[in-house]
Amino acid sequence: MFSLLPPEVAPYMDPSFMSKPGRGERKAQQVGYLSLAAHRLLLLHAAPPTALTILELGSGPGYFAILVLFASLSQYCPCDLNAILLDRKGVGLATAKERWDAWCERTHMSASWASKLGIAEQSASDPLPPFDVALGLHTCGPLSDIIFDAAARTPSCFAYVVSPCCYGQIVGRASVYAKEQPREAPPNNNVTNNLHPDIVSHPRSASVREMCQECGVSWNIGLLGTASEMSVVQSSSKKKGGDDTGGEDAWAYTHTHPAYVTSKKCMGAIDTDRSLAMAEKGWEVGVDTLVPITCSPKNQVLWGRRTIRI
Ligand SMILES: C[S@@+](CC[C@H](N)C(=O)[O-])C[C@H]1O[C@@H](n2cnc3c(N)ncnc32)[C@H](O)[C@@H]1O
Repeated sequence: MFSLLPPEVAPYMDPSFMSKPGRGERKAQQVGYLSLAAHRLLLLHAAPPTALTILELGSGPGYFAILVLFASLSQYCPCDLNAILLDRKGVGLATAKERWDAWCERTHMSASWASKLGIAEQSASDPLPPFDVALGLHTCGPLSDIIFDAAARTPSCFAYVVSPCCYGQIVGRASVYAKEQPREAPPNNNVTNNLHPDIVSHPRSASVREMCQECGVSWNIGLLGTASEMSVVQSSSKKKGGDDTGGEDAWAYTHTHPAYVTSKKCMGAIDTDRSLAMAEKGWEVGVDTLVPITCSPKNQVLWGRRTIRI
């Protein structure tokens, strides 16, 4: 299917993936499956009178939203879509916009098609542009939680599709942010004052909180996150990407490997709790796995559909 896509839309043609054998193909498989999930939710939504906006948070080069936007050209898509790619790093955003504009120009699409893709270089914690559907692929640590919260509190948002990663960063992310985005030194040099506000508390759902209370157990998010991050990829390279697909040489993992089985269960526990929290806010939710499962060991897919208007 991907060989039919224009090179500007298909991740396997991205020069930044070329040096990593199979990485572009795996990214294409990831965005292919997620785009289908997003289009299913768009189809279930009553035909809207105006254009809808999909917002991909932590988009990097934005292949997920771009594929959803591209597929909206199909006669089967009932929606007129616009897409916004949002990331706090601008470099991937600029390239994505260049690729999209190049495709529009090469295929003589009208100027209105070029303007369908916008970019926003900002943190997901800052006020967001208006959107109707939230998307995220390999959204690190608390970024996934930030997306769910944004979806829940934004009245126009009726659906989300998110594939999380970096579960180990759900706790301890604050210190990474503090390093990346140095803030003004607090007067007493107390490092805890320098924490980024993107700290989210887990468990997210009342159901899990109550269950823990009743059973007298604690929800050890640090342990669950660390176990989710167990190294399951056999790669000869030392370099590792956030989605565990960064190895530059041989890359493989097997879904029967005991470390992977543990990791998958822990990701499942965290994501079930995240989804229960959305269900408690009136969303129909699902926790699913990317197909093919081998496209990434970070293969959780969380989707949601608002059932109660706010
Ligand atoms: C693992 S990368 C995934 C990129 C892309 N979605 C993909 O799958 O190729 C995570 C991206 O999220 C961005 N990011 C992480 N936290 C963010 C935040 N709070 N606000 C905005 N962007 C964030 C990072 O800059 C990075 O580009």
